[in-house]
Amino acid sequence: MIEQCRLIEFPQKGDDRGHLVIVEGNQDIPFEIKRVFYIYGSDKEVIRGKHANYNTEFVLINVAGTSKVKVDDGINQKIFRLDRPHIGIYLPKMVWKDMYDFSHDSVLLVLASEHYDENEYIRSYSKYLEIVRKKFEEETLC
Ligand code: TYD
Repeated sequence: MIEQCRLIEFPQKGDDRGHLVIVEGNQDIPFEIKRVFYIYGSDKEVIRGKHANYNTEFVLINVAGTSKVKVDDGINQKIFRLDRPHIGIYLPKMVWKDMYDFSHDSVLLVLASEHYDENEYIRSYSKYLEIVRKKFEEETLC
């Protein structure tokens, strides 16, 4: 699953007036965008996220400033740095994610494939491990 987490480069149409980055659902983003939220004003020491989602896919873009995203599929972990407004990270469903190391000017834009539903969040890491390891065992047996 961790291999599915990947950086996406968005098309840019900058000119002498400034920069313009284009992000189209179902095209640059591999899903229809149903929800947008953004995170800013988080201190450097803060760790956000700390959850997995049963159904939602996400793309995270630092439209200003920088942050890091640690992804974990229960077996492997990988750290991505978001530091350019035309680069996003795609996160599939059922990946554990931590966002941290926010710069003071960080604005982290999040595009989501589903509307908000607290019931599809897994907020306990031990529960997450239990679920993914069970799924892995089932798939290995098949
Ligand atoms: P939380 O999931 O902790 O944010 P993050 O993972 O980005 O650090 O969400 C913080 C609060 O906001 C929590 O009470 C749930 C609420 N929330 C919504 O109501 N709608 C949303 O789309 C999101 C992302 C959060």
